[in-house]
Amino acid sequence: MAFDLGTPVNTALLLYILYSVQRILFPSNKVSESVPAEFKNGYSWMPKSHPPTLLFQTFTPKTLEPFNGEEGKRILLAIKGVVYDVTAGRNFYGPNGMYANFAGRDASRGMAKQSFDTEMLTPIDQPLDKLDDLTPEEIENMKGWMDHFQNKYIVCGRLVEPDAV
Ligand code: HEM
Repeated sequence: MAFDLGTPVNTALLLYILYSVQRILFPSNKVSESVPAEFKNGYSWMPKSHPPTLLFQTFTPKTLEPFNGEEGKRILLAIKGVVYDVTAGRNFYGPNGMYANFAGRDASRGMAKQSFDTEMLTPIDQPLDKLDDLTPEEIENMKGWMDHFQNKYIVCGRLVEPDAV
């Protein structure tokens, strides 16, 4: 069977084959002039800006207290010496939130006793709450909250005695 180049279909087919062979033999290695900033531009890309980072810090009750979410500021709270950034839970801990009393404070006792009464909070100029009087159930309760916070928020520091820094 003769290949008749005169018919338009065969001409188109031949051109397509030549084009495909040329693409295989001379692949285009064009390098993008700018670094892609989105995934859709390929696998080799960099985000537009560095993701937000948090510095792990040491707080005392007094230096933790300003992080109470007022005027849109960050919200931190501590449980058993671990400081969590709970800014993402502003609805809970922000100035009008149900648990606003914990913002900027050591929330250990309140979490253990399942109470947001103000007596649960140790004044910020006093030594840290030793939590010695808690029952095993209360300690378990507090640890349960620590698990919850660990999975939901970012640990961003530790809370130490007022005179430790
Ligand atoms: C008056 C009874 C209470 C009601 C109706 C209530 C209701 C709620 C609701 C609806 C949530 C949100 C759950 C979610 O979306 O994951 C929540 C979370 C929470 N509750 Fe209560 N609560 C009460 C008492 C308490 C008490 C006494 C405490 C004291 C420790 C407490 C501490 C918390 C905490 C720490 C969270 C987690 C918030 C977060 O994920 O950041 N709640 N509560």
